[in-house]
Amino acid sequence: MNDTSRRLFITGNSSGLGRGLAKVYLERGWSVYGISRRGCDLDGGALHDIRADLSDFEAVPVALDHLLRDVDHLDLVILNAGVLGPIKDLHETRIEEIRQVMDINVWSNKVILDWLLDAAIRIDRILFISSGAAVRGNRGWGAYALSKATLNMLAQLYAHEFPDSHLIALAPGLVDTAMQDYLCEQADATRFESLRRLQAARGTGAMPAPEQAAEQIAAVIPRLAGHPSGAFVDIRKLPAS
Ligand SMILES: NC(=O)c1ccc[n+]([C@@H]2O[C@H](COP(=O)([O-])OP(=O)(O)OC[C@H]3O[C@@H](n4cnc5c(N)ncnc54)[C@H](OP(=O)(O)O)[C@@H]3O)[C@@H](O)[C@H]2O)c1
Repeated sequence: MNDTSRRLFITGNSSGLGRGLAKVYLERGWSVYGISRRGCDLDGGALHDIRADLSDFEAVPVALDHLLRDVDHLDLVILNAGVLGPIKDLHETRIEEIRQVMDINVWSNKVILDWLLDAAIRIDRILFISSGAAVRGNRGWGAYALSKATLNMLAQLYAHEFPDSHLIALAPGLVDTAMQDYLCEQADATRFESLRRLQAARGTGAMPAPEQAAEQIAAVIPRLAGHPSGAFVDIRKLPAS
């Protein structure tokens, strides 16, 4: 299908999974609207890209006013942008470090969702890119785990306020991105045992490259309709199609 009337709005499309998803949907002929600080390097007239820092809550609505000014319908919104924050014990983590992660992983999404509601843009589906860390509670994942657990609840709560859209918080599984550079190469796997699972997965099919992971996500999105709006779904737990 090649149909530029189909529209995706995605955050964090400059690298990793977000760039992979933008590429997959551009290749399918969709119009892609993206926001990140570095900007997206993909080619194509159907890419509409704007640079903004999502932790600047005053700049985000201004950027959206500009990016989505001619848009009255989005087939898909993917709230993908995220940061990991430090892997360390909560006891050693300053509130300010947690706040920075929460600002990007959670509150910037609230700003975006409120803007979308105010703009009365019709939206079919909203995907919140969550993580298995939202529910695992492994040692060292403090700020990130707190942010993704809150993101899951954000999806559940906003599901009431977007009655005409289908919302899902999706754990995408492991993806070989810049986030994994830190987790597999810099963080302390001796102290934080859960990191060993990631190190073992790197370079195997259990940690696909971003574009491959994006293809897998794009393929499962239609199947997510069977879950109640607002639900958390881990892609690894979906039955094989
Ligand atoms: N990689 C994994 O194994 C994995 C597993 C589970 C969940 N996830 C989730 O997947 C999502 C994508 O992560 P990734 O692995 O692809 O990491 P990544 O390569 O580091 O990409 C993160 C994206 O978020 C954007 N971003 C971060 N801070 C931003 C800010 N202040 N303003 C605007 N954009 C910002 C970045 O753009 P700029 O730097 O250009 O601003 C970048 O495009 C995240 O939500 C992550 O939690 C990843």
